[in-house]
Amino acid sequence: MEEQAAKIRIGQLREILRENSRRYYVDNAPTMSDFEFDTLMHELERLEAEFPQFDSPDSPTRRVGSDLDAPMGRNAESGARQGFVQRPHRYPMLSLGNTYSIAEIEEFAARADKALDGIPFSYSCELKFDGTAICLTYRDGRLVQALTRGDGVQGDDVTDNVRRIESIPQRLHGDYPAEFEIRGEILMPYAAFDALNREREAQEEAPFANPRNAASGSLKLIDPEEVAHRGLICTLYHIPAESVSFTSHSEALDAAARWGLPVSDERRLCRNIDEIKAYIDHWDTERKYLPYATDGIVIKINELACQRALGYTAKSPRWAVAYKFKAEQACTELLSIDYQVGRTGAVTPVANLAPVQLSGTLVKRATLNNADQMALLDIRVGDWVFVEKGGEIIPKITGIDPAHRSPDALRPVFPANCPDCGTPLVKTETEARWFCPNQDGCPMQIKGRLLHFVSRKAMDILAGEMTVEQFFELGLARTPADLYAISKWQLVGLEGWQDRAAQRFLDSLEASRQVPFERVLFALGIRYVGETTAKALARHFGSIDALSEATQEQLLEVADVGEVIARSVYEFLHNPAHQEQIARLREAGLRFDGAGQDSALSDALSGKTIVISGNFSISRDQMKELIVAHGGKAGSSVSAKTAFLLAGSKPGPEKLRKCEKLGVPVIDEAAFRAMLPVATESAGSGLPPEGVSAAERGPVFSSSGDKPADADLPNNEQSVEELTLF
Ligand code: IVH
Repeated sequence: MEEQAAKIRIGQLREILRENSRRYYVDNAPTMSDFEFDTLMHELERLEAEFPQFDSPDSPTRRVGSDLDAPMGRNAESGARQGFVQRPHRYPMLSLGNTYSIAEIEEFAARADKALDGIPFSYSCELKFDGTAICLTYRDGRLVQALTRGDGVQGDDVTDNVRRIESIPQRLHGDYPAEFEIRGEILMPYAAFDALNREREAQEEAPFANPRNAASGSLKLIDPEEVAHRGLICTLYHIPAESVSFTSHSEALDAAARWGLPVSDERRLCRNIDEIKAYIDHWDTERKYLPYATDGIVIKINELACQRALGYTAKSPRWAVAYKFKAEQACTELLSIDYQVGRTGAVTPVANLAPVQLSGTLVKRATLNNADQMALLDIRVGDWVFVEKGGEIIPKITGIDPAHRSPDALRPVFPANCPDCGTPLVKTETEARWFCPNQDGCPMQIKGRLLHFVSRKAMDILAGEMTVEQFFELGLARTPADLYAISKWQLVGLEGWQDRAAQRFLDSLEASRQVPFERVLFALGIRYVGETTAKALARHFGSIDALSEATQEQLLEVADVGEVIARSVYEFLHNPAHQEQIARLREAGLRFDGAGQDSALSDALSGKTIVISGNFSISRDQMKELIVAHGGKAGSSVSAKTAFLLAGSKPGPEKLRKCEKLGVPVIDEAAFRAMLPVATESAGSGLPPEGVSAAERGPVFSSSGDKPADADLPNNEQSVEELTLF
């Protein structure tokens, strides 16, 4: 490769890898499979080695991915601002070099042999657990600190949350050292993951893509009590050699197990490459029967003196390597292809498959992304195709089995016209996708925009696919502003609408008038403006008027807003039809300014720190929002400063005991609600009507679960835009 071409490619790779690292570690919502990520990382490593003149100390090849919350960071799951204190690691928390090739494991072993030059050593082979890394400190046998990996140099202090994970002992026994660190992984077993996602879907919340994201999201929850209910487990696999005086890694972990710490029983000492290969072969199949996710094998030089001799690179130890398993694949028949039109008009080909089991779920549909991808695969209806689950929850078709092709297999024809409204499709040079340009007339786009507007992360209005379909068909709503003109008498005359359902819908419309500006901005559905970008824009400009007046250059001043987003925002806000929509929504009473301000309802709880425990008629997060909206502070643990404990059903016994000891009053939900001014209880609270659980909200379909609403980046928008796959 020529120097100039290499420079450009290196720049591209660094950008892609940084962005995906942020999605993986911070948002817990990766858009790339591990294999794709690792392949790009290896390409960058190769290019940097070949062209050292383009070296950069902050290249992703030199840095450990960071899970630290970005300044504007939010927990992808709860949407709540994070408040973890960051603390330095005593020893940097590094990553591992990894490979998908046995030949490279052989090279690793040969390099170690050579470097250790006749000194006898062995390998500790272990499972590579697919969770989120944790670093625990024990002092005098007590757990005193738990930090996430963070950026490797400092991590988030999640000690309170880790204390609620049952398998992590608070106290050790036996002959433990006075102070030491131990590192490992927090995991969510498949059973807990399935239960959590079932619960989230029932509550119309977006499910987690995989157990790793669920574990990492759960560890960053604000409420330790909720962490306790997530079924997390822990396995520990590394004691920094500096922190203890053992002669080998396996000895250190055996000792840790004796002190009561959770250490895997699946470790094996191997003497040579053949034994390593046998271990890999065994777990390549056996891991399917483990109750938690693993993504490979870690091979470590066992003797600590040898580890010291080999040392570290900037990013990983030279004494260890990870062999990663490729994502599980299944092979099945392609029955037909649908072409789905999303809210932006993008047309996505979706494969209908003969149902097949893949990583514990039955897969019936998979995305084919776009016409180029179909051509690249040279796919035909009737082909046997390979399906893979990458980082995302939506499976992908990664290849076809040519041996299985029947002579009758039909080459699909990508439609020239919109499958919904018949308008000829268009494609620009820069886009891989075809678009229906009939924005104002294409029913799928109109319904898609309405669905996005009502979705939980946007305006949180009680309407799902069926309701939107009904409103559209009856001519009741084509644009978001139309929703605010719907009256109760119109609703009760419709099929399937009883008085109670109509009232709940209208209450949710009323409550949406209090939704903060940043979410209203997100709800408008501006292309490439996902939740995070909407928030950044709202905070920067403060109002729709200021945002509308901004030039593209001024838009570029906002963190993470590049040219594509700036142009999209500018064009959207200068389109007369959109301006009219915004004016009507403003007239309907929606908030178009005041970003970042609390939606204060009263100061009834001013100066009070309230700790909550147990279950309520609304979720715990909503209860905390209610406390804050009334001027109070939601505390996490009971202390002498706690005003009272708000106890729902099944409150934590520890908290109750502490209240009794400190004389802190305990009150129930009814008594609590009686403390709040009556007028703010229904419409203005921004919360669902009291006593109605999310699971029984209105005659609706999920408006969020299968349609994640975030679309910060063009490529992400494509994967999540409006695929109705499940
Ligand atoms: S040892 C200095 N052992 O994989 C290296 N890591 O992709 C210490 N991981 O950062 C790590 N299972 O979070 C080690 N048995 C195992 C592991 C393991 C999973 C994680 C760990 C590491 C990452 C690298």
